[in-house]
Amino acid sequence: MSDRIPLGEIRNHIGKRVKVQGFVDTIRDSRAMLFIVLKDITGKVQITLEKEQKPEAAAAMEGVTGDSVITVSGVVAENSYVKMGGIEILPEEIRVESIADPLPIARKEIPATKKKKAVERSGIDQRIDYRWIDLRTDENQFMFQVQTAFVNAMRQYLLNENFVEIHTPKLIGAASESGADVFEVKYFDRNAYLAQSPQFYKQMAMAAGLERIFEVGPVFRAEKSFTSRHTTEFTGFDLEFSYIDSFHDVMKLEENLLKAGLECIQDKYGEQIEEMFGIPVRVPGTPFPVISLKTLYEELEKDFGYTVDESEKGDLTTEAERLSFEWVKKHYDHEFLFVTDFDASKRAFYHMRDENGVPQGYDLIWRGVEITTGAQREHRHEILKRQAEEKGLAEDVKFYLEFFKYGCPPHGGFGLGVDRLTMLLLGLTIKEAMFIFRGPGRLNP
Ligand code: 4AD
Ligand code: MG
Repeated sequence: MSDRIPLGEIRNHIGKRVKVQGFVDTIRDSRAMLFIVLKDITGKVQITLEKEQKPEAAAAMEGVTGDSVITVSGVVAENSYVKMGGIEILPEEIRVESIADPLPIARKEIPATKKKKAVERSGIDQRIDYRWIDLRTDENQFMFQVQTAFVNAMRQYLLNENFVEIHTPKLIGAASESGADVFEVKYFDRNAYLAQSPQFYKQMAMAAGLERIFEVGPVFRAEKSFTSRHTTEFTGFDLEFSYIDSFHDVMKLEENLLKAGLECIQDKYGEQIEEMFGIPVRVPGTPFPVISLKTLYEELEKDFGYTVDESEKGDLTTEAERLSFEWVKKHYDHEFLFVTDFDASKRAFYHMRDENGVPQGYDLIWRGVEITTGAQREHRHEILKRQAEEKGLAEDVKFYLEFFKYGCPPHGGFGLGVDRLTMLLLGLTIKEAMFIFRGPGRLNP
């Protein structure tokens, strides 16, 4: 075991000699003194070096640049002059582990000084080229703590509700949503596809009698979209459960799940999110507001004069999605909106339809962006087969249709985009919210 002390715990070691390690956040050099701010994942601390007293440590620091990695052994001291929490480390020994070249990106705007002009922040695409350097900022590192807590709270919620976690294949023999937008890959002497969602296997789990399952895993979409919320590979939080009466049971589960997630986030990180990202975390009241697509278009026209061509009204346009946030704030003082009654031509073949052919599902919009599509599924083999045929998919999904021939409970579920959740929670774009973004033009790093 290393005897390294995390910087966040340094306060518990006042007066003691400690070993700390991290990145050099800043260095300020004056004639007699060297002030180094050291950063690790838990926090930052000032290292105060008197050069004459510690010539060896001073020599070691010669030429050390920002973002270099060093090991410092020294005594933790209280000093009310130190801005960073009134604590400093007086080093006895410094070892340089790795020297950083001058950084190829500016993670943040560097304000002008008397000697130097201001440096503009690099664009997000340039920053992604060097994402590991960009990820060293406090905000980016915090983002992953928040995402971890959010997903964990939701996972915990489902475990308490007796869901089990499954892991389904991502290499599959057929397109899992529709023929479009699927990545084809070489699979020995034939072709395979990258899963566009765990949809078929979630449903296989229902046919297997598992009753309540979820999965958090990669989802692939061959979409040539260049928007602030589309990526070709994202993390899906998907679930499916049996013996529902209607898709309203699915919506109910989802609102409780999100409420549990946001409660945890507000509790643990609410203040810090507001401080760092300027956005309050709101725990949503339940039930969430629900509106049919047709009524929503009528309301948007009434409130905002928004009109679309009749041919577009079977689905939500991006602009209607955005405006729906204004609408739901105004009428319900809420951030979430369930939209129901889409046109069957715009929905997946596996959604159950009512006697009028209306898909029994919904989209959930948070802060004006779709985060989920959910539905009751068609579990009756003959009807499902007919719906697949109608969309020209019957051949492709032959293996999937078999799942419904030997007994299958009524069931439903949804897919929630984790990257979109993080992005909306912190007010970011998807490129900023992902560990590393994947898009039509981006396979590296
Ligand atoms: O709406 P989607 O395509 O629905 C399905 O995958 C269904 N199998 C879900 C179901 O159980 N009925 O995808 C689900 C969610 C979206 O609502 C969105 O949050 C996210 O996945 N998503 C994307 N996120 C980032 N980039 C993309 N290109 C995304 N496509 C979908
Ligand atoms: Mg959708």
